[in-house]
Parts: sequence; structure tokens; C-alpha cells
Amino acid sequence: MTDEARLLSVAARAGVAPFHVMDVLAAARARQQARGDVVSLAPGEPSAGAPRPVREAAARLLRTDQLGYTEQEGIPPLREAIAGHYRRTLALDVEPHEVLVTTGSSGGFLLAFLAAFDVGDRVAMACPGYPAYRNILTALGCEVVELRCGAETRFQPTVAMLDELPPIKGLVVASPANPTGTVLAAGELAAIAGWCAERGVALISDEIYHGIDYSGTATSAWQYSREAIVVNSFSKYFAMTGWRLGWLLVPERLRRPMAALTGNFTICPPNLSQQAAVHAFTEESYAELDGHVERYRRNRDVLLSGLAELGLTKGGGPEGQGGGESKGGGPEGQGGGKGTVAPADGAFYAYADISHLTHDAMSWCQRLLADTGLAVVPGIDFDPQLGNRFIRMSFAGDEKDIREGLRRLGGWLGN
Ligand SMILES: Cc1ncc(COP(=O)(O)O)c(C=O)c1O
Repeated sequence: MTDEARLLSVAARAGVAPFHVMDVLAAARARQQARGDVVSLAPGEPSAGAPRPVREAAARLLRTDQLGYTEQEGIPPLREAIAGHYRRTLALDVEPHEVLVTTGSSGGFLLAFLAAFDVGDRVAMACPGYPAYRNILTALGCEVVELRCGAETRFQPTVAMLDELPPIKGLVVASPANPTGTVLAAGELAAIAGWCAERGVALISDEIYHGIDYSGTATSAWQYSREAIVVNSFSKYFAMTGWRLGWLLVPERLRRPMAALTGNFTICPPNLSQQAAVHAFTEESYAELDGHVERYRRNRDVLLSGLAELGLTKGGGPEGQGGGESKGGGPEGQGGGKGTVAPADGAFYAYADISHLTHDAMSWCQRLLADTGLAVVPGIDFDPQLGNRFIRMSFAGDEKDIREGLRRLGGWLGN
């Protein structure tokens, strides 16, 4: 460190937790380079790329368009297409001016939290849950209130839990959720939205896995409250992770502040991605994307039945009664129950309680990778307290990888 650097400091707010999963991914990359034999059920993204009409439009645009800045809220045809998507999928009336296009849902979270919360505000979220909520809120000086959610509530918060809390300013929900894949039943989401609206609590509903829903039961918070902020993205159903494009449905009170914030932060979302993404809403694109969802559904069946043969069975909540004798309260009555897998209603993850095998899932995953070349991720990023008793496996890839992963896992557990 230079003498000058010694005098300078790093902002306290920059001290957010790293993603531990990056260590596993780095080890998997190193092994792949050295031995070329890695089977990875680790990544949280679709294995296929953007639908063909989107890729073709992008190639055309690169040849013909200047690709300068766009409107800060997003280009009008894309906002219209997103509004049309709600009419098509949920028969929900959304006006284009209610849609704000963002740089991924990650950019949307930053905007939503900045616009809705002040330093010191208490914001609740489910634990386990997507770690960036906690980390962005913490960096912004908010107090994160973790709601311990276990198998008994399908890893989702309930109104009863909210009633127990000292006052909060905001609540983040995700349905389908990462890492568990569980969906908030329509009645539950409606009740939560009502609870928030009555108390002036800002509800932020992460709906980024909408469209990847095996039970067909996921609903939008905007069906119950137009005061909620809905977060969505092109990353999951639309298979466009690296295009860095998402959107928000913004309540009226926040429209002007959010437009000003987004203009200052990013000027506009990526132009090429926006123009190409308009073509994600064609019949041809929908057909291609629905084909991926069918593949995830088949993969899910293969993975869940393969895990059951290895003693990791479906459990948790009224519809997930397949847990057999291993179903139960889990570690300290708060987890999934030894050997149970959260009911993967949507998304493309199986979140398994392996507390009968280890209480240090991080080292367990590293050993599994070193011994077999199979990469899965520990739950520690999603749940800092109990996540070291869980692993998350993605089924967004190829069926043959899932079958091979199960074979390696079975052999390893048998040893
Ligand atoms: C629940 C959830 N929300 C948000 C994101 C962020 O996605 P993006 O910024 O690509 O839209 C992810 C990514 O994995 C996620 O799982």
C-alpha cells in the first residue's frame, strides 16, 4: 500500500458481504481448465441465449443504427411491449408510462430502494432470500429485518409474521423465489399487499422468475395493489442475462423521482438491448422461450426424482407433502427438515436441506467438486445463519448434465 493510500479510506457502506458462491464457481472454472470434466448445476441463469428474433434484430441494429442514448425511462416501443406482456400473460392492464426500463432487475432494485427508503428505514425480507436485497439495502444505510421462513410456510413470509414485527417501512418479496423456487399463493400475496397498503409499507415484489412457473399459480403484486413496486427482468424467462435489461412497474408517487434517479445513474438502459428486446414479445420468441420452460419442467422432474432416490425428498408446506419421514421442522425447527427439498413451484432451482450430511455446506461443496467434478452451491449466500446446511442445484441446463450430476452425487454419497 502506498503512503497516499494509507491516508484514504473505503466508505463503510462498501463493506457488503461478497458472494461466497464465487469461490465455488472459481474452483469449478479452474478444474474445468485443468481437467475438462466439470458438470455444473451451479449457475443461476438459463443455458440458452436470447430468442432468435432478438439476436437477429441485434445483428441488424449493429449494422444500421447509431445506438446513441435513449429516453431515460426506456424506448416507447419497449415500454408498450412490456405493458402488452401483462395483458397477454395475466390479463392485467398496465399503461406504458407505468413501465420504467432498467439495467437488469439489479438496476431496478437500486432505483426502487433509493426512491422508497431513507437511511435508517427498516426493510423486511425473507431468509433464505436473494442476497443482493440485503446487500444493497445495507449499502444504502437501511436496516434489514430478516424474516426466518422455513418449510412450514413454503419459505415465504406470511401476514402473521408481519404482524409480529415492530414497525417496518418496506417489505421485499420474491415469487417464484431464489433459492427455493417457491411461489406465494395468490391469496397470500393479496393479503401481504393489503397489509402493506393499509400501513403505508412499501411492497417491492420481485417477479423476475415469472413465466417459469410449473404450477401456473404465480400472480403479480399489481393485481392487488398499484402502490407496490414490481420488479422484473429479461434475464430469466427471456434468457437474456448479459443484455442487462429489466423493468419496474412504478406507482404514481414514485414515477418522477425514479425517472430523475435513473437519468442520473445510467442516462438510459443499453440501447441495443432495448431495441432488440422489443422482438422478445413476438409469437416466435414466446414459442422458443416456452420451449425452454418445458425443458426446465422435464429437468426438474428428473432432478427431484433422482434426489429422492438419494434420500433427498420433496417437503415443505401444504402442497409439498412428499417428504415422508424426513419431513419436519429442520435445523432448530426453522429449516426445510433434514433431507428435504423445497417445493420447486417455479424458477429453476432445487434447494435441499443437507443438515444430516453437514453443517458446513461450503466445504462440502468444495469437497464434492474436488472429488467428482460436480459443482453445486452452498446456501450460505441466501441465508447467512442456516444456509451452511443447504445446497442449491440449478436445473436450467441440459438433462444429460443433470443425470450425470445425479450419478456423481450418488456415487460420492455412497462412498
Ligand atoms: C430473485 C432474483 N432477483 C434478481 C436477480 C438479478 O437479476 P438481473 O439483474 O439479471 O435482472 C436474480 C439473479 O439471479 C434473482 O435470482
